[in-house]
Amino acid sequence: MRPDDLAVHLRASRFGGQASPFDVRWLPSTTSTMDVASKLAHEGAKHGVVIVADQQTSGRGRRGTTWVSPPLAGLYFSFIARPDPVEAPPSLGVPGLSLLTLAAGVAVRDGVQAATGLAADLKWPNDLIVGPRKLAGILAEGISIGSPDQAVIVGVGVNVQPAAYPPDVAARAVSLEGELGRSIDRGLLLSEILIALWDRLARRPGDILQAWRAASPNATGTRVEWDGKHGTTAGIDDSGALLVKTNAGIERIIAGELRWML
Ligand code: BTN
Repeated sequence: MRPDDLAVHLRASRFGGQASPFDVRWLPSTTSTMDVASKLAHEGAKHGVVIVADQQTSGRGRRGTTWVSPPLAGLYFSFIARPDPVEAPPSLGVPGLSLLTLAAGVAVRDGVQAATGLAADLKWPNDLIVGPRKLAGILAEGISIGSPDQAVIVGVGVNVQPAAYPPDVAARAVSLEGELGRSIDRGLLLSEILIALWDRLARRPGDILQAWRAASPNATGTRVEWDGKHGTTAGIDDSGALLVKTNAGIERIIAGELRWML
């Protein structure tokens, strides 16, 4: 599906009988869709602007990592969200900041399943995984947080084709086409993720948390290690923090890298 067909598909989709709320801009190549979306957000771009690229030359991941983005091998996009300046309950139809990335994770999971039939799991904080390997990642960057102009750029990278990743990435990655043994239409995939995202962002916080928990079986009962400590996952709390049961009690983890025994 090319950009024009994508627009038609989105127009024909269900948005409560309204016109498509998305403004999708598809680029052949860019440094990072985060850069483009963030510049546009600073210039006042509205909620619903989506920047997609066939290739990124400086794709980035969480915690300062590189998101290797070879041409046409993945779906790379960033979505501009304008969350309510006041944390939930949502009054602008967009949840508060802490729930936004969880809603995005659920939407990526649901969109992948709708477009391809593949049911993947979420892994805290927001990776989409098949078995122990990563299929997609989500990066959220805030702009002018706390001001009335605040925006969050939600970047999503989905591995579509098995690509020539560096060995350390290849060992931990999985792709849709590699898993399913057939070609995947990136336009259809984007379209289904955006439809799911719109639906999730309109939900109440409790619904988002419930959907995230249901999509993440490993968030309970999985052994994890971090900073020389270890324990067993015990779910996420209502702010999205991971709870881990250790010998010393329950630890609440809000950020950082964990090693998962999946
Ligand atoms: C992660 O580390 O898991 C997050 C990866 C996010 C990658 C996407 S690809 C589209 C957007 N542009 C970027 O440079 N990063 C995000």
